[in-house]
Amino acid sequence: MEALKEIVNPILKWYDSHARVLPWREDPSPYRVWVSEIMLQQTRVEAVKPYFERFIKELPTIRALAEAPEDRLMKLWEGLGYYNRVRNMQKAAIELTEEYGGEMPADFERILKLPGIGSYTAGAIASIAFGIPRPAVDGNVLRVLSRVQKSYEDIMKQSVRKSFEEQVRAVIPKVRAGDFNQSLIELGAIVCVPNGAPKCEECPLKELCRAHADGVELELPKKTPPKKRRVEDRTVLVLLSDNKAALKKRPSKGLLAGLYELPNLEGRYESQEILNYVKELGLSPIRIQSLPEAKHIFSHIEWHMAGYAVKIEEPDKEPEGFFFVEKAQMEDIYSIPAAFGAYTEYFKHRF
Ligand code: ADE
Ligand code: SF4
Repeated sequence: MEALKEIVNPILKWYDSHARVLPWREDPSPYRVWVSEIMLQQTRVEAVKPYFERFIKELPTIRALAEAPEDRLMKLWEGLGYYNRVRNMQKAAIELTEEYGGEMPADFERILKLPGIGSYTAGAIASIAFGIPRPAVDGNVLRVLSRVQKSYEDIMKQSVRKSFEEQVRAVIPKVRAGDFNQSLIELGAIVCVPNGAPKCEECPLKELCRAHADGVELELPKKTPPKKRRVEDRTVLVLLSDNKAALKKRPSKGLLAGLYELPNLEGRYESQEILNYVKELGLSPIRIQSLPEAKHIFSHIEWHMAGYAVKIEEPDKEPEGFFFVEKAQMEDIYSIPAAFGAYTEYFKHRF
């Protein structure tokens, strides 16, 4: 596409006066860019800001990230979801500490080999932190480019993403490579928006944009709808003694790996079945109460949950795999995934 070259100057000029002031833009060190980009893959800028500040304050360097205790790391990520992303960041930080003394090398190919870093994140770090002219094509950029070029190609296809990357690579300016990437991202975030009508009247590309010229902005980009999620029924237990509540640690692999969870069973159960289960664990139930249903949506699975609160005698011995934790300590120390959020509030109830 010959047209892309023409977007460079107008979009950079627009960026100079419209870029939001963001913490990771004020001081774009490689570590800060990396942390912000991983967080921004999960939620929007406003939600990321407080997480970013807290994370950087507590783990200010790559070396500090490499050495962070697992529970602390999970706690800093709590609420962002996709915990494997922060685990991968720690693995990468360990590599960087061992091989480069805790620095990020100014080398796109090496950055790309780090755990959890794909071509988008590697391009963002290389360009924003080091000025290396590599593209950083995320969903925002795919939307802008599909519209500007009036491309009906499916942006969920790897081959289409690659082709957009190549087109950006061909025009990315040698100076201001990072600003150019961020200007495309920024335009996609605040002007050529994902939900609702793009603000074409404010857009620096409106004279060049083919979708706008033909009035088809809202038809683009084309995406194949994601696969339907599998639905899983679960029964979640809030096991409470006078001061303590029960947690379990999830397996070290798979969904929500290594995090703490409320005890839960696959399937649906009557209260009598739950009482029997609790007794089989070697615990002494006093009473049971059913709790409202709740739903949690993961990327590939949906949990449809029923819940019970079960009051139990103070246990003499914890069943295998269970931890009875002081209710007061719970929130400070243990990271419990948001999936259980509808039930963790019952820790506070007396019943
Ligand atoms: N979304 C992804 N990367 C971003 C960045 N660097 N600035 C603002 N929003 C973003
Ligand atoms: Fe997006 Fe409209 Fe700008 Fe085209 S003119 S890039 S559709 S905001």
